[in-house]
Amino acid sequence: MSKPIDGFSKLSKSKKIDWIVETYFSNTDDAKEVLKQYWNSNKKLQQLHDEFIENTITNYYLPLGVAPNFLINGKIYTIPMAIEESSVVAAASKAAKFWMDRGGFKTKVISTTKIGQVHFIFKGDFEKLKTFFDLVKPKIIEDTKAITKNMEKRGGGIIDIELRDKTSDIGNYYQLHASFETLDAMGANFINSCLEQFAKTFKDEAQVFHLFSDEEKEIEVVMSILSNYVPDCLVRAEVCCKVEDLNEGSTISGEAFAKKFVQAVNIAEVEPFRAVTHNKGIMNGIDAVVLATGNDFRAIEAGVHAYAARKGKYSSLTHAKVEDGIFTFWIEIPLALGTIGGLTGLHPLVKLALELLHKPSAKELMQIVAVAGLAQNFAALRSLTTTGIQQGHMKMHLMNILNQFEATNEEKKILTEYFRNHTVSHSAVSEAINKLRVKS
Ligand code: MEV
Repeated sequence: MSKPIDGFSKLSKSKKIDWIVETYFSNTDDAKEVLKQYWNSNKKLQQLHDEFIENTITNYYLPLGVAPNFLINGKIYTIPMAIEESSVVAAASKAAKFWMDRGGFKTKVISTTKIGQVHFIFKGDFEKLKTFFDLVKPKIIEDTKAITKNMEKRGGGIIDIELRDKTSDIGNYYQLHASFETLDAMGANFINSCLEQFAKTFKDEAQVFHLFSDEEKEIEVVMSILSNYVPDCLVRAEVCCKVEDLNEGSTISGEAFAKKFVQAVNIAEVEPFRAVTHNKGIMNGIDAVVLATGNDFRAIEAGVHAYAARKGKYSSLTHAKVEDGIFTFWIEIPLALGTIGGLTGLHPLVKLALELLHKPSAKELMQIVAVAGLAQNFAALRSLTTTGIQQGHMKMHLMNILNQFEATNEEKKILTEYFRNHTVSHSAVSEAINKLRVKS
């Protein structure tokens, strides 16, 4: 049993590592070696990573891949993807190529509004609260001027603040529900700073509002925080083509493929067990680009899944139809992204990823990310409804299995060739590698 430690955060990095390896590992040298082999020899870069978070002991690498040939609104992109799962980048690239020959992806930002709330308890008369809110609202906005000045200069800022009565959910619970335009910034710090100022002004002004009783003057602010649910920060991406143009590289006709594909999407629309996996595949593409471009994938995940359940039942994020011989496949998804602020100006790989994407605005990035999700879903459904997912996936996964067996480069070469026309499975690879090793 390990013991708790006081003052861990104050230890130097090397002392932190000493404590960890001595407390948790039998072979302290090996554990130290693993941690240290991921340190960057460039001291400045390492320091940057050390300072991103607290108690950093090493770096955790993910591969950064690229998927080229994405034609989006007539412009070609190579999309950076940070992800550990094999086949995701290959699937994206394949879908990109497929749609490149069929007009590419068409996208549109529908809205860019973000939300924040001050949650508070008020014990008293709602009509008085309403009168107070209407009166104090201009001052609430005025008091944030120091925070909003720059954002307003660029065309963003606070859009509106509403008073919301939530007492049917929780006794005496109300909200200041505020909407914001944060332009190219994800805007979390901006929104949270505004909200905390709203809360302060609201509370202070309540103390001197002449209509309030003593109890009513004591507004209790529970918390002030942005919402990661952004149903009005919405983007749409779409592909479409003639049904007969769908059959390339497939054993079934365009008509049969379109029918099966639409059925697969319909199933995800009505069946939550399928919808979750269907959307997971979409998030393979979305998270990978969100991560590569230094955005907060947890915020995106939380918001996207809430959106997928907005009608009271978890459902597909994508939709498909065939009308008048035209196959259309689209996604509509909330994405609060930033291309300035946060990691975007700090992390050298994030800067590189954004440059690779022609330094997009947040709106452009929303469209690129939505396309990555749609492409990923197209590739997954295409495999699932034709060959099945495992054939392609296991081929891509072969290298991971070979690495588990610590295959040499020579063994990898021979076995990759062998598995070109043999089914890949863990046991088949094990058998093949053993045979090879016995032979030599
Ligand atoms: C695997 O990471 C993603 C899929 O399961 C998505 C899907 O089933 O649509 C292949």
